[in-house]
Amino acid sequence: MNLEEKFRELEQKNQQAELAGGAKRIEQQHKAGKMTARERLEFLLDEGSFVEIGKFVTHRCADFGMDEQKIPGDGVVTGYGTVSGRTVYVYSQDFTVFGGSLSATQAAKICKILDLAIKNGAPVIGINDSGGARIQEGVESLGGYAEIFYRNTMASGVVPQITAILGPSAGGAVYSPALTDFIFMVKQSSYMFLTGPDVIKTVTHEEVTKEDLGGAVTHSSKSGVCHFANDDEKSTLLLIRELLSYLPSNNVDDVPVVPTDDPPLRREPRLRNLVPENPKAPYDIKELIEAIVDNGHFLEVQKDFAQNLVVGYARLNGRSIGIVANQPKVLAGCLDINASMKAARFVRFCDAFNIPIVTLVDVPGFLPGTDQEYAGIIRHGAKLLYAYSEATVPKITLIVRKAYGGAYCVMASKQLRADVNFAYPTAEVAVMGADGAVSIIFRNQLKDASDPTAERVKLVDEYQTKFANPYRAAELGYVDEIIYPEETREKLIRSLEMLKNKRDKLPTKKHGNIPL
Ligand code: HXC
Repeated sequence: MNLEEKFRELEQKNQQAELAGGAKRIEQQHKAGKMTARERLEFLLDEGSFVEIGKFVTHRCADFGMDEQKIPGDGVVTGYGTVSGRTVYVYSQDFTVFGGSLSATQAAKICKILDLAIKNGAPVIGINDSGGARIQEGVESLGGYAEIFYRNTMASGVVPQITAILGPSAGGAVYSPALTDFIFMVKQSSYMFLTGPDVIKTVTHEEVTKEDLGGAVTHSSKSGVCHFANDDEKSTLLLIRELLSYLPSNNVDDVPVVPTDDPPLRREPRLRNLVPENPKAPYDIKELIEAIVDNGHFLEVQKDFAQNLVVGYARLNGRSIGIVANQPKVLAGCLDINASMKAARFVRFCDAFNIPIVTLVDVPGFLPGTDQEYAGIIRHGAKLLYAYSEATVPKITLIVRKAYGGAYCVMASKQLRADVNFAYPTAEVAVMGADGAVSIIFRNQLKDASDPTAERVKLVDEYQTKFANPYRAAELGYVDEIIYPEETREKLIRSLEMLKNKRDKLPTKKHGNIPL
């Protein structure tokens, strides 16, 4: 072979690898409204930045005639590239090659990417579109999955891990995504479940469609497995880019700074009227968030799950922050099991990746009821206490209205080592609401009163005057400053600036024992 022929050989091999499962299967993929593995990477990454690793890897299976069917790349495209100029590692399963199923060599390619990401400190984005374990390979494929699960665990808290489910993800294969930090799904074309509709029908006689069982809407609103559900693949990939813009590349990096034209001292007089006169009236906490963050941009995470609590990312004076906020508009902002778990996981992610946490409090307490108690609200509520206590990133808390009972403690109170605790003059910090408190502590007095209704009104009023305000907490130093709503942005930015170099340590231990 002369030199030219050698170059031509490479060109042909490249073309063969890029054609993957062939023109017909690519057409089928497009007909199903899906992009190919390579098209997805091209769209996700900065133009021309993708560098492929392991393009010619093939499987080593000889059973069931597989030695006659080898396709370069073996059903996954792996490598690295950039998103807004920052390095990311990527893998993208190729459904046109054996249904994207995972062989031992496909697993080895994915593991190589995860190892590189951990060593070099850059996020990993996995695009899943696969029929699961390569059936022809049996246990070798299962071993491959376990290798990936192990590395996902090692990478956890070292580099951000993001998964886009853009096709099937079934059986134990769901556990790699589940071990990553964020799962994105597309409505109608992606699904995740441990056991599919057919098995469910056989075992429990229950009939359910794929979409109802494990589609994007189910996992973003019911199970909480999915963090972002989108209408199509392109908006999903663009949203991944947006999410990355808030995150540092690894656990020792600082958060990215995005210069802003939004003045740090911007005042928002309309916030004076945000909290209604009637303490029972709802309002939308997202109005407060959007009024104070840079240019009103707030990327909400898990927006359809546990809507009584809002979490997400924004920037203050160019720097990323994580926001945790009770939502008075839903369940009066009560904490329940799902909200506690959602917030705890969010707080832990922020803490692992040096993202300061701003907590906005308006919580009447934990949601009462046998459902909650039987399902373990004690155990799950403890997760949030644990997460806030353990977090060493800057923590700023603003009590907007109610901070009652145990929920006061949980929501980044001073005693959980929040660095700066603010309150609005509308804050109510007490063991419980005035009505409940009066019923308990004045039970006898009310029974003996000549006019119990008038007596109750008087006592509730007295209790409210004494406790339904932030001044007692401020006297005790539990609240550092009572601020006017319009100056919230400035106060938060000044605090973050003051806390910029915060150093805090946990006692030496192998690891804690968060109540799982
Ligand atoms: C080998 C597979 C495959 C697999 C699909 N293919 N899944 N090859 N191993 N797991 C191949 C098909 O033979 C077919 O090849 C091509 O991929 C496309 O598949 P179709 O069935 O034609 O596509 P579609 O109709 O869209 O259905 C997609 C599907 C279905 C729903 C994913 O293929 C399916 O049910 N696959 C099996 C799923 C499964 O049971 N996997 C094992 C799960 S257990 P040709 O040559 O015809 O194009 C598991 C355990 C993991 O994964 C444990 C980890 C701990």
